[in-house]
Amino acid sequence: MIIDTHAHYDDGQFDIDREELLTSMEANGITRIVNVGADMDSSRQTVALTEKYSFLYGAVGVHPNSTAELSQEKIIELKKMAQLPKIVAIGEIGLDYYWDEPEPSVQKQWFDCQMDLAREVKLPMIIHSRDAAKDTIDMMKAQKAGEIGGVIHCYSYSVEMAREYLNMGFFLGIGGVVTFKNAKTIKEVVSYAPIEALVLETDCPYLAPEPNRGKRNSSKNIPYVVQEIARLKDIDVEKVIAVTEKNARSLYPKLK
Ligand code: NI
Repeated sequence: MIIDTHAHYDDGQFDIDREELLTSMEANGITRIVNVGADMDSSRQTVALTEKYSFLYGAVGVHPNSTAELSQEKIIELKKMAQLPKIVAIGEIGLDYYWDEPEPSVQKQWFDCQMDLAREVKLPMIIHSRDAAKDTIDMMKAQKAGEIGGVIHCYSYSVEMAREYLNMGFFLGIGGVVTFKNAKTIKEVVSYAPIEALVLETDCPYLAPEPNRGKRNSSKNIPYVVQEIARLKDIDVEKVIAVTEKNARSLYPKLK
């Protein structure tokens, strides 16, 4: 069965039909969803969603572009949320120089602090890294991130960088982008990486796969991602589903 390892159902784009959509997931083969926080408010909303839906788990953390709101008190609040039984990871955290807001030094300070938090609460990390390949890997190596573990969400770097993350024991999150015709590098990465290192994700409401590119995304679109991974690796769709489910459970040990 399919596990969506990265979704944002707290997003306002789901306000009109969230209940209807989420309760239809199981009938569509989506048996587990991990909703991922991107700031303090969405982390709190994630906790509320995990309380409402049995099949929905959560991650709490602050996305690099929202780190200006962080303080030591907020880190303590994140820590309390992280200890709840259905919170399975710290994320999404990392560096994003595409939107260079706040300045890199602030992003770095809170990335490091949230890696410390993940280590302290013994949870894997969901890493968001955009246009910041070198600083991300350098900071993760300095933190010995391989001891903490986690996933590189929406993996978008080279095959060489993928090798570095695989050597650290990290999973690569594969979503709708792999279906885009011009996404040559990620197709190469999926061909190169062992299937045992890949997990499925949507990042919904963003990044809908072909043929729904540009529309609001949901976990129901994951079969398009599965088909493309199966094609690239020349294996059965059933095998992609079975192995990535096992991978997701190994990535997030608290997932029941
Ligand atoms: Ni995300």
